[in-house]
Amino acid sequence: MSQPETTRAPDETPRARKTTKVAVVGAGAVGSTMAYAALMRGSARHVALYDINRAKVEAEALDLSHGIQFMPMAEVVGSDDVAVCADADIIMVTAGAKQKPGQTRLDLAEATISLVSKILPELLAVAPDATYVMVTNPVDIVTYAALKISGLPPTQLFGSGTVLDSSRLRFLIAQHCGVAVQNVHAYMAGEHGDSEIPLWSSATIGGVPLLEWDAIEGRAPLTAEVRDQIAHEVINSAYRIIEGKGATNYAVALAGSRIIEAVLNDEHRVLPVSTLLDDYYGISDICLSVPSIVGRHGVTDRLQVPLSPVEIRGLQHSAASLKEVARRFGV
Ligand code: 2OP
Repeated sequence: MSQPETTRAPDETPRARKTTKVAVVGAGAVGSTMAYAALMRGSARHVALYDINRAKVEAEALDLSHGIQFMPMAEVVGSDDVAVCADADIIMVTAGAKQKPGQTRLDLAEATISLVSKILPELLAVAPDATYVMVTNPVDIVTYAALKISGLPPTQLFGSGTVLDSSRLRFLIAQHCGVAVQNVHAYMAGEHGDSEIPLWSSATIGGVPLLEWDAIEGRAPLTAEVRDQIAHEVINSAYRIIEGKGATNYAVALAGSRIIEAVLNDEHRVLPVSTLLDDYYGISDICLSVPSIVGRHGVTDRLQVPLSPVEIRGLQHSAASLKEVARRFGV
């Protein structure tokens, strides 16, 4: 029997493909753990790890692939050839200078910008349609530089921003209030770094505005003093972890997986990612985090979250300090 004639060529656009591919650039602590987290969560069907250190990247991929039996169906490959990233739907850039104890994220700017200038054109040559997510620090400056280097639209290239910091904030609020972290909605905004701010005025716990939260089960209320302590702890979390074990990797990897899923599953999820702002409370022409909508087409919108006057000033101060760093490094 003759085969029916094919009337239409199969649609091979990335959006129509049934498979999903994430490429993680950098097989260090953050990149390898992000690949692991993405595999464990079933974030993508194909996971590619790319690093210039061949022995390291091949070893990480081999170790990960030996656990595939115990994970949702997936395939993992690792290579020092950028072609491993070809046709990725999303690329997570984690490669860059490592933050040493006592260094701030901004201290890494020069080294990371020069690295990103080199690898971005190579990645674009093999995966021009991918969504690009910068994870490397200082993530807001790196994102701003990467937009200029790549010429990609700000919808398609953004930074992991304060998704991790917001998760730290929610964890601390949940612990203090004795509720599940999933029932806390609160965001850190601004720089992923020292000038970031908590958006207390829009935060809620199970629908109750956080600023009206009364103590339950004998726990202390969320006084202004407690809120200040929590914010301080969020801002200093990474320093504490780096002091103790040399790097942060688990929570940032999970935050990265969350972003991967929001994009690949077209979730339209509200995430505080770092994007190029255009008159957001008067802030323009710098990348920083505000609650934004993330889906298959990247970052499509920023939410106009109601902010208190203190929060507006805090966000504007964060933008000003990032602009000063961008100017200093000629970005
Ligand atoms: C973190 O916040 C160091 O940016 C990294 O864990």
